[in-house]
Amino acid sequence: MYSDKVIDHYTNPRNVGEIENADGIGEVGNPVCGDIMRMYLKIKDGIIEDIKFKTFGCGAAIATSSVSTEMLKGKTIEQALKLTNKEVVDALDGLPPVKLHCSVLAEEAVRSAIADYYRKQGDKTEEEIIKICGIKEGVSCAHEGEVNEAD
Ligand code: FES
Repeated sequence: MYSDKVIDHYTNPRNVGEIENADGIGEVGNPVCGDIMRMYLKIKDGIIEDIKFKTFGCGAAIATSSVSTEMLKGKTIEQALKLTNKEVVDALDGLPPVKLHCSVLAEEAVRSAIADYYRKQGDKTEEEIIKICGIKEGVSCAHEGEVNEAD
């Protein structure tokens, strides 16, 4: 049912944790199941230098979070904003259809974290940020509260 890659990333998730003084933090929830993912970014000269995540969610959510951090490390902000949940799923050699909604968390979390980064930079309006990041109005990140470790 699950590919070897999904099982690998679930049992041995990469880049789990927090980044102290992160340049951008994004938190999103999956409305289908209520699971939560938080993503931390360290950005230098427009490049994602470091990325970590915490996911309180199912195995598919943890695997997609993990593989997406590997795909995003070293990428530019522009490249990161183009990441789609389909690419994340393909990188895992697929997910069962019933678990596809879980893959959306990673794409949304990185967009939310980049929006937070732009807000901290302070040189763009909220309208511009919403447009560039493709997020819904009013979506913000949570800097407080508890999200359990992925493992
Ligand atoms: Fe909630 Fe997978 S069941 S993210």
